[in-house]
Amino acid sequence: MENNATSEKRKPWINWAIFALTVLMVFILGMLASTISERRVEKEYIYKPRVQINDWEPRNEVWGENFPAEYDSYLKTREGDFRSKYNGNAMIDMLEVDPRMVVLWAGYGFSKDYNQGRGHYWAVEDVRNTLRTAAPMKPGDGPMPATCWTCKSPDVPRLMNEMGITEFYRGKWAKHGADIVNHIGCADCHDNQTMDLRISRPALIEAFERQGKDITRATHQEMRSLVCAQCHVEYYFNKQRPDAEGVNYLTFPWDKGMNVEQIIAYYDEINFSDWTHQLSKTPMLKAQHPDYETYLGGTHAERGVACADCHMPYMSEGGQKYTDHHLQSPLNNIANSCQVCHRESEENIRKWVYDKQDKVIQQRDELEKMLVRAHVEAKHAWDNGATDDQMKNILTRIRHAQFKWDYAAAGHGAAFHNSLEILRIISSGLQEAQEARIELATLLVKLGAGYPVPYPDIETKADAQKYIGLPMDQLKSEKKEFIDKIVPEWIKQAQARESQWQVKYY
Ligand code: HEC
Ligand code: HEC
Ligand code: HEC
Ligand code: HEC
Repeated sequence: MENNATSEKRKPWINWAIFALTVLMVFILGMLASTISERRVEKEYIYKPRVQINDWEPRNEVWGENFPAEYDSYLKTREGDFRSKYNGNAMIDMLEVDPRMVVLWAGYGFSKDYNQGRGHYWAVEDVRNTLRTAAPMKPGDGPMPATCWTCKSPDVPRLMNEMGITEFYRGKWAKHGADIVNHIGCADCHDNQTMDLRISRPALIEAFERQGKDITRATHQEMRSLVCAQCHVEYYFNKQRPDAEGVNYLTFPWDKGMNVEQIIAYYDEINFSDWTHQLSKTPMLKAQHPDYETYLGGTHAERGVACADCHMPYMSEGGQKYTDHHLQSPLNNIANSCQVCHRESEENIRKWVYDKQDKVIQQRDELEKMLVRAHVEAKHAWDNGATDDQMKNILTRIRHAQFKWDYAAAGHGAAFHNSLEILRIISSGLQEAQEARIELATLLVKLGAGYPVPYPDIETKADAQKYIGLPMDQLKSEKKEFIDKIVPEWIKQAQARESQWQVKYY
C-alpha cells in the first residue's frame, strides 16, 4: 500500500517524459535496424554493372570490374603458402617425392617432369614451363598436340568459337602459344549475359550426348559439380574420328560407364594406348585426373554435396554474401568448407581426412613397388628371348594394373572423395600385378633366365631418371631457351591483340 501511495504521489509529467523517451528510443533503434538491413539488401540485390562483358571475353580482370568480391577471391588461387599432409597450393615435385613414378612412366613425358598441381592462376604458366611440353621453337614443332591447352584458359572457348572445335584441336601445341594467355577464369564457367553456370567445353557435352543424356537438363546443384567436370576428369585424344581424321580430338571414355573397369573396357575395345613402356614394351594407358568420376558414388556425392560446396563455400563479408572463388584444398578453410555441415572441431575434421589418405597411400605404395618389379622383370624376359605370344597376357595384366594405380593416384583428392572405391581399385590392381608377376616368374624359369630379378637402384629422382637414360641436362637447357626466346614473343603478340579489344564502360 505504501508503495502505491508513493507512485501515486509521483508527478504526472515524469511519467509522460519516460513514455516519450521510450517511444523515441524505439523509433531510433527501428530506423537504425532498417537502414542496416536496407544496406544489406542493396549490396545483395542491386547489381549495377560497370562494364559490358562481351561474348567469350577471356580477360578475368574485365569481369572483375563488375564482380569485385568474386574476382578478388579468385586471385587468391595465386597463393602458394599452404601445405596439407599430401596436397595444398605449393608446387610439389612428385618425382622427387616418389622416384618410382619415373620408372612407371618410362618412355613417356611424365617421367621427365610431374608436379602436384597449383591454383588455377598458374595454369597457363605451368603448361608452358613443364618439360613435358618440351621446347618447340616453331608452331609445328614439339611433342604435344594443340589439344593440351583445352583445360587451361577461357581463351579456349573464345578460339573454338572463332575457328571451330576440330580446327582448335588440329596441329601442335605451339600453334596456340600466342592465342592462349589468360588463366582459367570466369568465361570457363559462366554465361556473360546471365552469369548462370555454363558448360564451355564440348568434350563434356559430347560425352553426355553419347550416353543419351542432355546436359542442359542438369539441376542447379549438379551444375555446381559439372562445371568442374569440364576439366577434372579422365580423357584421351581420339585420332580416329571419321569427321576429324588424324586430329587429337579430346574425348571422355565414358560410353560404357564411368567406373574404372568400364573405362578400361572402353580403351581395350578400341585398342587405345598412350605410349609403349620403354622397359616392358607394354601398351600403356595414362590416367589423367578422374576427380569427377571418383567423386561420384562417394558419401558426399550420394548425399548431393557438390564440388563447389567444399571448394567454393559461401562467404560473408561486411554484410555481403558471395561464393568464395579461391578454389583450393578445403583444409585451408575448414570453418567454411566443412563446419557448415559437420559440428566437430577443426582438428578432428583434419584428422578424418588424413586418416583416410594415410590408409589409401599406404596400399598405393605397395602397388607401385609391385609394378616397378613387373616392368623390370618383363624387360628381363624380353632380354632372354621371350616371344610376343608368351608376353601377351602378362602385358595386358600390367597395362590394367598400372592404369588402376594411376587412376587412384592422379586424382589428388580421391583418397578423401571416395576412399572405399579407391581402396577397391588399388586392391584389384594389386591382384592383377601379382598375377602378372607369377606368370613372369614361371616364364623366366622356363627361359632359363635368372630369377629373382634385382630391384633397380632408384632412391632419388635423379637415380631413376639415370636408370631409364633420360638426358635431363639437355632437356632443361632446351626448355630454358624456349622460355627465354619464344614465350616473351607469345606474350607480346597477345598484348597487341588484346589492346584492340575496347572495354565499354556504362
Ligand atoms: C578449365 C579447366 C578447369 C576447370 C573448369 C576447373 N579446373 Fe580446377 N584445375 C585445373 C587445372 C589445369 C589445375 C592445375 C593448375 C596448375 O597446377 O597449374 C587445377 C587445379 C585445381 C585445384 C588445386 C588447387 C591447389 O591449390 O592445388 C583444385 C582444388 C581445383 N582445381 C578444383 C576445381 C573445382 C572444385 C572446380 C569446379 C568448381 C574446378 N577446379 C574447375 C583446371 C580446371
Ligand atoms: C570453376 C568454375 C568457376 C569459375 C572459373 C568462376 N566461377 Fe563464379 N561461380 C562458380 C560457381 C560454382 C558459383 C556458384 C553458383 C551457384 O550456386 O549459383 C559461382 C557464382 C558466381 C557469382 C554469383 C554470386 C556469388 O558470389 O555466388 C558471380 C557474380 C560469379 N560467380 C563471378 C565470377 C567471376 C567474376 C569469375 C572470374 C573472376 C568467376 N565467377 C569464375 C563457378 C566459377
Ligand atoms: C553440404 C554439407 C556437407 C559439407 C559441406 C561437408 N559434408 Fe561431410 N558429410 C555430409 C553428409 C550428409 C555426410 C553423410 C553422413 C551423415 O549424414 O552425417 C557426410 C559424411 C562425412 C564423412 C563420413 C563419411 C565418409 O565418407 O567417411 C566425413 C569423413 C566427412 N563427411 C568429412 C567432410 C569434410 C572433411 C568436409 C569439408 C572438406 C565435409 N565433410 C563437408 C555433408 C557435408
Ligand atoms: C565433402 C567435401 C568435398 C567435395 C564434395 C569435393 N572435394 Fe575435392 N577435396 C576435398 C578434400 C578434403 C580434399 C583433400 C585436401 C588436402 O589433402 O589438402 C580435396 C582435394 C581435392 C583436390 C586436390 C587439391 C590439392 O590441394 O591439390 C582437387 C583437385 C579436388 N579436390 C577437386 C574436387 C572436384 C573436382 C570435386 C567434385 C567432382 C570435389 N573436389 C569434391 C573435399 C571435397
